[in-house]
Amino acid sequence: MQTDFQNILNGIKPLFDDGKSREQLLAGICATLKEKVYHYDWIGFYLLDESTNQLVLGPSVGKPTEHTHIPVGKGVCGQVAESGLTKVVQDVSEENNYIACSIDVQSEIVVPVMKNGKFVAEIDIDSHSAGPFTEEDEQFLGAICEMVAGRF
Ligand code: SME
Repeated sequence: MQTDFQNILNGIKPLFDDGKSREQLLAGICATLKEKVYHYDWIGFYLLDESTNQLVLGPSVGKPTEHTHIPVGKGVCGQVAESGLTKVVQDVSEENNYIACSIDVQSEIVVPVMKNGKFVAEIDIDSHSAGPFTEEDEQFLGAICEMVAGRF
C-alpha cells in the first residue's frame, strides 16, 4: 500500500501549534500515525528517565503493553537509547536483543528524539507486516522526532 508521507506530515504539523501539552501532542501524533499508516500497528513514545537509566512509556496506541519500563541497552528500544541511532528490524525473529510484546508483531522501527545531541526519547513502531519499512519511513519519522525535540 502506497503511503503519502508528505501529506500525513502536513497534517501533523498543526498539532504543534495549538497549545497542547507535550503529553497531548505525543498522543495526537500516535493517533494520527495509527489512523493514516496501514503498516503501523502499535505506536508509542518512550521517554528517558535519567535518574534510573530506563525508558518509561509515554503516550501510545495499539494493544496495551506490559513493557512500560525498559532499561537502556535492553531490546530494540534500549539499543536506540544507547546509540542514539535509528534501528530498523525488518524481521523480529532475526533480532537477538529483542523484547517481544505480541506474537502478531513481525517488524519494528525505533527512531530517537535527540535534543542538543543528547538522547531524550524515541518513537517505537511495531508492525504486523513483514519487512514493511523503507527509507521513507525513516525520513518521515525522523522529521517528526526533530519537531518533537523542540518540546523537551
Ligand atoms: N519490542 C521492543 C519492546 C517494546 S514493545 O515493542 C512495545 C523492544 O525490543 O525494545
